[in-house]
Amino acid sequence: MKRSLDDHAARFDQAADSYDEDGSPEYRAAAALVIEHAAPEPDDVVLDLGTGTGAIALALADDAGAVIGRDISEGMLEQAREKAAERGLESVTFDEGRFREPNVSGDRSVDVVVSNFAMHHLDDDAKREAIETIADLEPRRFVLGDVMLFGEADPEEPFYSPAVDDPATVGVLADALTDVGFALTAVEPVHEQVGVLVAERSEPTEDERA
Ligand SMILES: C[S@@+](CC[C@H](N)C(=O)[O-])C[C@H]1O[C@@H](n2cnc3c(N)ncnc32)[C@H](O)[C@@H]1O
Repeated sequence: MKRSLDDHAARFDQAADSYDEDGSPEYRAAAALVIEHAAPEPDDVVLDLGTGTGAIALALADDAGAVIGRDISEGMLEQAREKAAERGLESVTFDEGRFREPNVSGDRSVDVVVSNFAMHHLDDDAKREAIETIADLEPRRFVLGDVMLFGEADPEEPFYSPAVDDPATVGVLADALTDVGFALTAVEPVHEQVGVLVAERSEPTEDERA
């Protein structure tokens, strides 16, 4: 990881007030695709990892039974909570949690996991651990929108800041997802360095086998 979790949290705390004013067309396209592919059922519990100010979590609130937003930046979480309160949304909750420790109670089932523009802060080993953690939650679907490399890395491009970002190749992500039992059911390139992957569980869980 190029920066510690505390560094990332502090950076996003500082940016939280103005975060929603920024956002490239590619970020917006990825967010829209994550929301479209998440497609929760009315009773589903959705977990949004690296939820930030809640762009994805809030957009899914009306379609899901409950949405759990998790992030390491209290500043970003506070913005998300304010937006949920303004909209009177009680089915969406925002609390501290991280990719490898999502802070979801063991007795809570999670049906769909989403994440947009957040996992690229982890190095590839940590991404693999995060994907293992997500698989352990046994969602039927994981939708990942992020900075990811379809071709060669290009540090000159705006989506990839080598000082703080650590995007994986699509191949690395695909291998990590399939290694934990997901099948990759859609790959949506948005840009040479931005895309959305849809992973669905391809093997029965222990509960289903029992
Ligand atoms: C670029 S923002 C994206 C926010 C939101 N998903 C969106 O689409 O607007 C990245 C977010 O990831 C969070 N983040 C970074 N590393 C994280 C980690 N290890 N666990 C959880 N959240 C993390 C940051 O605090 C920040 O809020």
